Amino acid sequence: MQIISGKPSLGRNAQAPTQGTRRAPGLRWRRVALATALAFPLAGLSPAWAQTASPDSSQTRLETKSAFVADLIGRMTLDEKIGQLRLISIGSDMPAAKLADEIAAGRIGASFNTVTRKDNRPLQAAAVERSRLKIPVLFAYDIVHGHRTVFPISLGLASTWDMQAVELAARTAAVEAAADGIDMTFAPMVDISRDPRWGRTSEGFGEDPHLVSEAARASVRGFQGMSLAAPDSIGASVKHFALYGAVEGGRDYNTVDMSPMRMYQDYLPPYRAAVDAGAAGVMVALNSINGVPATSNTWLMQDLLRKQWGFKGVTVSDHGAITELVKHGVARDSREAAKLAIKAGIDLSMADQVYLQELPRLVQSGEVSMQEIDNAVREVLGVKYDLGLFSDPFRRIGTADGDPVDVNAEQRLHRAATRDVARKSLVLLENRNGTLPLRKAGTIALVGPLADSPIDIMGSWSAAGVAKQSVTLRQGLEAAVRGRARVVYARGSNVTDDPAIVEYLNFLNWDTPEVVNDKRPAADQIAEAVRAAQQADVVVAAVGEARGMSHESSSRTSLELPASQRDLLAALKATGKPLVLVLMNGRPLALDWAKKNADAVLETWYTGTEGGHAISDVLFGDYNPAGKLPVSFARSVGQIPTYYNHLRIGRPFTPGKPGNYTSQYFEEPNGPLYPFGYGLSYTRFELSDVSLSAPTMARGGRVTASIAVRNAGDRAGETVVQLYIEDPAASVARPVKELKDFRKIMLQPGEQQVVRFEIDEQKLAFYNAKLEHVAEDGQFNVQIGLDSQDVKVGTFELR
Ligand code: NOJ
Repeated sequence: MQIISGKPSLGRNAQAPTQGTRRAPGLRWRRVALATALAFPLAGLSPAWAQTASPDSSQTRLETKSAFVADLIGRMTLDEKIGQLRLISIGSDMPAAKLADEIAAGRIGASFNTVTRKDNRPLQAAAVERSRLKIPVLFAYDIVHGHRTVFPISLGLASTWDMQAVELAARTAAVEAAADGIDMTFAPMVDISRDPRWGRTSEGFGEDPHLVSEAARASVRGFQGMSLAAPDSIGASVKHFALYGAVEGGRDYNTVDMSPMRMYQDYLPPYRAAVDAGAAGVMVALNSINGVPATSNTWLMQDLLRKQWGFKGVTVSDHGAITELVKHGVARDSREAAKLAIKAGIDLSMADQVYLQELPRLVQSGEVSMQEIDNAVREVLGVKYDLGLFSDPFRRIGTADGDPVDVNAEQRLHRAATRDVARKSLVLLENRNGTLPLRKAGTIALVGPLADSPIDIMGSWSAAGVAKQSVTLRQGLEAAVRGRARVVYARGSNVTDDPAIVEYLNFLNWDTPEVVNDKRPAADQIAEAVRAAQQADVVVAAVGEARGMSHESSSRTSLELPASQRDLLAALKATGKPLVLVLMNGRPLALDWAKKNADAVLETWYTGTEGGHAISDVLFGDYNPAGKLPVSFARSVGQIPTYYNHLRIGRPFTPGKPGNYTSQYFEEPNGPLYPFGYGLSYTRFELSDVSLSAPTMARGGRVTASIAVRNAGDRAGETVVQLYIEDPAASVARPVKELKDFRKIMLQPGEQQVVRFEIDEQKLAFYNAKLEHVAEDGQFNVQIGLDSQDVKVGTFELR
């Protein structure tokens, strides 16, 4: 056995956070000249934002930065320091004028939810003209899958298996957000989710550590660009650290209890990838981990994040999370909550009063040291420095004469980019008898409560996206066939007829109620849709979830389509017309009926601003679908968790031998309905056998696995070749397979390409029972396929 990388210091302390001192500054300090009269035309104190010109080497830059920040901290009062640790939203209890006054008084250092230069300019002016030290304020916002232009939700982005597309979505969002005066986003969200009941599954990149890590890196690159200080870059705060996707029962905000091995092997890598990619921030999860809330978890925030991973940016609590330490039952009152959080290493406190109210007394009493306060302040000022705010607090806000006349102006959108990414995100699940692509001729019945819903197609967390600018499927379809085919539209049903669910959905904090039901009896709505179907050659039914059903706090106990839509589909099926389902949803649904009854099924998630065009591109074959599932689709809610990279077990199910005491549910076949990595194309791909460059790999060596992929159909198309590895006999039970690499390739009809994967020890390594990252001697099975289930296998030995 050989240890590939150092042993993480989890051990027994995983459950018991240490109260050790926080990281040392670690940098040499030297004084820098601050303001010059030229740089600071106002009389009085030196401006804190008179950052010196960027020096050349990164070491010098770091030294200059730490000297600058240290100098500033040396001039701050305790109250000013505490003010820098507060991230407060504009809102009814904090209107713009009050927010400006609080900033001017030095009581708020960062704000979120203002989304225009016009809104942010007076707030920044309050900071740099009216506050004593003139420290710029930082503006943040939830920009998860687009800003003004909405891209597909993250689950859709992951379905592209195209990291350039993921990066493009983040880059475009950064450019748009920075042009609106925003400095930082609370993204990417990289929580691994194996439980689709969890509504926030939609916000993440799926179930697989490798794929999610790749997407994490691509997103950070996209948001932060070449330099954080660039006027068109924004800082990324990876979230939710950590393990939020593993909340028990998929119920949001619930507890997380997890073995250290699973944590290290499966759940932590994506956060680590974002940190290694240079994410400026980390947002801390709302959940507890093995009994200790992340927000007060010294092991998580210091031992792991700061010491082991070397994270250098700012940490941010989630909304009200410090106050919630009392409800978690780990703090007696808000005073203790503040103390735990600051000692754990929460730099910025989001949306609460506790730091403001409690830290002064905690410092006076000596329970919290000035050093601990300074450590947090240093990170907040450090990220402002990196974002270039000290050299120009208005670098993303600009001057009033440059403000857009209309923030929602059409020319500010990036429609071509989002359309391209959106069509890459579509996953073709079924296509019987070549039902798709459709011909642009005859009559198409378009039905379903999501066919013409501009709000839903944006998905949740649609940032500054405007519903009326998004293209619905109805609009996309009509535009695609104009003058060639007829589209007959009928909504056919409500998303749900359950009044309690409608009330819930409309209670989520959207500006206006989003779910507006047709009050006519369900039978009348269905009859209208059936009449449309009867006139048509084919029926396209857009069904799924209102966007609020896949959102924060929106956990479900069922993965079925709501009853109103099931009834609609049954009636459509009864017409005998070819039935194409276009699914819009933010989590894997239970699709047993659809698989058996629909002629084609296209998973579209929520596609964003250009969704209707992108979906039409695929329906009519103007684009050949190549998306692959980033999550497994269970057959029913009872099968959860269903994920492809599960551990081997002693009694695996043996198909064809019922009742033989193996691991199964006896009412349903084992395994997913649609496996991870699955997705069809309008063409057919054939795979050769796997060939390996050698039967053995020496330590430090490599083996190349090759496979020939041939386009055996008559259309050009892309597919994703996926490399999985299995370690069938190790010191601990290992997964039946794990994704280690993938390649998206384009092949013309009849074309063949050999895809080669380099396998090294890193790809074989795992966290053993001592949490050492090791590759163990012995056999490895290489599995290559176009999904995780249907694979070709080769074998070699590590010696
Ligand atoms: C709470 C959510 O959990 C988090 O993801 C989000 O960034 C914050 N609210 C701020 O909106």
